[in-house]
Amino acid sequence: MNGRSPIMQDGLVLSLDQVLARQSFKWRQYSPGVLAACVADMDLGTAPAVRTALAQLLQRVDLTYPLRDGRKADRAVARAFAARMHRLYGWAAEADQALVLPDLVQATFAAVMAFSDPGDGVVVQVPHYAPFREAVEGTGRRLVPLAMRAGADGHYFDFEALERAVDARTRVLILCNPHNPTGRVAIRAELEAVLAFAERHALVVVSDEIHADLVYPGARHLPFASLSAAAAARTVTLNSATKSFNIAGLRCAVAHFGTAALQARFHARVPARLTGAVNNLGIDATVAAWNDGQPWLDAALAHLLAMRDHLAETLRRELPAIRFHVPQGTYLLWMDCAALELGRPAAEFFLQHARVALSPGEVFDAGAPHCARLNFATSRPILDDILERMIAAVRAHQRRPVHA
Ligand SMILES: Cc1ncc(COP(=O)(O)O)c(C=O)c1O
Repeated sequence: MNGRSPIMQDGLVLSLDQVLARQSFKWRQYSPGVLAACVADMDLGTAPAVRTALAQLLQRVDLTYPLRDGRKADRAVARAFAARMHRLYGWAAEADQALVLPDLVQATFAAVMAFSDPGDGVVVQVPHYAPFREAVEGTGRRLVPLAMRAGADGHYFDFEALERAVDARTRVLILCNPHNPTGRVAIRAELEAVLAFAERHALVVVSDEIHADLVYPGARHLPFASLSAAAAARTVTLNSATKSFNIAGLRCAVAHFGTAALQARFHARVPARLTGAVNNLGIDATVAAWNDGQPWLDAALAHLLAMRDHLAETLRRELPAIRFHVPQGTYLLWMDCAALELGRPAAEFFLQHARVALSPGEVFDAGAPHCARLNFATSRPILDDILERMIAAVRAHQRRPVHA
């Protein structure tokens, strides 16, 4: 322990004691003893650059209305976003076309409300991150499904079914890439097919790229708006440092409009004042993460890659009936447990019999209670405990007496 408090969180990966010391939604929503592999937070610390920025702010008790470099503080986030997009992807995103707001879900709601009317169709991948459905159905729009079909080596867009589902009142397409929950990272040809579809049907594309930093060797993230000027003209890009730097509690995100005209269309329906202002901690942490956090992110990605591969190998060896594709991005693995014949939703089975909390498949797709999402952004010992418990629960289930 080196005389340090067991809850000091300055290492890359946290111990079980350290994660339990956090008052996190991921770990605190279940009864004691349950291992949490659900909510998309990591059992990791965050970048030293982020910690330093936060410590300096608190040391100065600098919690008043902020100004950075003589301008409104949110502009520092917009500039850091634009610089990062240029550095990583060669995409010349205009800082002035970035709206900085507290969260991406809010941005998704705002974009749906700005670019469609009640009764209009909004295309959403299925399975999908649950708040996308809320943003569509909760605002009186109709969900037009874009199925992600499991193929030989990943999940692919089913455009044929989408062509049959789309209608003249479909206005928006919400794209999530890298994809939560399947971990698929779309290649250029697929994104170009999405663009062609959006152009054919005059859709605005809301491209949630929150998992963009979390991509493993062999795959590459491409911002949708960077495909072409035509793509940018119809795209709102959503991004934040919150997933990759593990700072979801700080509430700071970017909605970037590919053209000033698209930005003006948005603000005609959603005044900037309505999405509010972001807080000093979120601003300084985001700028520090994007400008100076890369060494930590590289180390975190190496750890996540090792956990992903260990998880995939163990599942293949010990639970071969579970079908999955190795995620190319995100720290989430989408499991199809149908062949286990659990007799109830997969997440419910594992919570009850393994004391492991997974994200229920039915939250991502009403037709997929046999699926569950496992968050592998944890330490090797915690991941091993999770796997041991799941394996034991399935073996016990398979040994149960079967009544005719
Ligand atoms: C695809 C996706 N979008 C958005 C979010 C959440 O973003 P925020 O916390 O900024 O609302 C998540 C969180 O897991 C996510 O997976």
